[in-house]
Amino acid sequence: MIIVKADRTDVAEVAKLHVHAFPGFFLTSLGLSFLEELYAGFLSHPSGIFIVAKEEEGIVGFAAGTSAPEVFFPDLRRRRRFAFVFKAIPSILRNPLPVCRKLLYAVRYRGEAPAARSSGALLSSIGTAIACRGNGVAANLMLEFEKEAMAHGADFVYLTTDAEQNDRVNAFYRRHGYAAVSRFQQNGRRDMFRYEKQLSA
Ligand SMILES: CC(C)(COP(=O)(O)OP(=O)(O)OC[C@H]1O[C@@H](n2cnc3c(N)ncnc32)[C@H](O)[C@@H]1OP(=O)(O)O)[C@@H](O)C(=O)NCCC(=O)NCCS
Repeated sequence: MIIVKADRTDVAEVAKLHVHAFPGFFLTSLGLSFLEELYAGFLSHPSGIFIVAKEEEGIVGFAAGTSAPEVFFPDLRRRRRFAFVFKAIPSILRNPLPVCRKLLYAVRYRGEAPAARSSGALLSSIGTAIACRGNGVAANLMLEFEKEAMAHGADFVYLTTDAEQNDRVNAFYRRHGYAAVSRFQQNGRRDMFRYEKQLSA
């Protein structure tokens, strides 16, 4: 397995892997072309950090985030908002109210950034192929993500994940040195932990 920076040719495969790794999640429900737009956003922004794990058969894992969430999300909305809405239309038509409510949240999203500190990199998503789980793919992606975050000048990495019915993922982050610094209700109903890890050279 190799861990490399993603490029444009990886975007479609990562979007498919996202659907496979996050069944039933909101972003997945927005469809492949929406996800392709989102992951292309990590590639095109200077603060984007986007890496993939490759085996002979193709991409088996990915991690994506930004070293400047406070500018990344507003920039993405400004530059690509029409593309995002256009690509979400099929999903909006299927389920108008819940999708619009969550899209509104997504439009305002800044990664739950800690207000007083601005040198944190946000790990937005990490996922691996089901058939490859438990082999250290995500562990290697995390290490590479942290190295990239340091290269971008970040001194800590933070992320959010479900607090409930998510024990293995929470155990995974804790084992990799992430400490839960807060617990909050996303969208007023989804119980989330925010984790942080200090980076050291
Ligand atoms: C969480 C995830 C990225 C871990 O990937 P991985 O390549 O299996 O991770 P590693 O092999 O480095 O480490 C395995 C550890 O991951 C955790 N883990 C979480 N979900 C797991 C799963 N479904 N299968 C295996 N391990 C899982 C466990 O702590 C496991 O340790 P254990 O074997 O002692 O239980 C992967 O399960 C995944 O893609 N899950 C769906 C997407 C997701 O929830 N992403 C994180 C939230 S943003």
